[in-house]
Amino acid sequence: MTNKGLTLWFTGLSGSGKSTLAQYLTPKLRELGNKVEVLDGDVVRENLSKGLGFSKEDRDTNIRRIGFVANMLARNGVTAITAAISPYRSIRREVREAAEAPFVEVFVSCPLEVVEERDTKGLYKKARAGIIKNFTGISDPYEDPENPEIVVDTSKESIEESAEKVLDYLRAKGLLAAAAEAAS
Ligand code: ADX
Repeated sequence: MTNKGLTLWFTGLSGSGKSTLAQYLTPKLRELGNKVEVLDGDVVRENLSKGLGFSKEDRDTNIRRIGFVANMLARNGVTAITAAISPYRSIRREVREAAEAPFVEVFVSCPLEVVEERDTKGLYKKARAGIIKNFTGISDPYEDPENPEIVVDTSKESIEESAEKVLDYLRAKGLLAAAAEAAS
């Protein structure tokens, strides 16, 4: 089975649906023959980036580490899905420029009002109350991607629709193992 590695880089606010979409896509991509690993922000911060905080410097370090591992996986035929806020354009660009396999940026867009209303982890409330400082979208910046390969809007689309957009893109670019096999 041909496996073309790639990095599928999700970026978006906390609660926008990055992890949910990554988890939803993983079995679908595996069924299509891709090898998949997910580097999830919350999980990475428990191991690879344990001890890092949320200053710009620490976030950049976190993102560099995620980019480094994703690249190692991608150049070895794995579909590396990353799901970290990755709020800064410059570091996303740096990671993209270092990529040795296709790099597909997915902007998981969702208005602040909607993620705040969802408040799945109860953190926005704490950020508004000033209990958590430097919270992305409230008291810390989030820089929208300027030229992402894919944009999904989780306030308007179902998860199936968002996932289909990603799969359609990968199919069109020959980045699904099954499609690559059929074409060879
Ligand atoms: S990133 O900025 O370095 O890319 P990452 O995705 O790893 O962030 O971690 C974000 C998660 O950490 C959020 O979903 C949330 O659960 C938690 N978190 C805790 N404090 C903050 C904060 N100040 N800003 C954003 N997220 C925070």
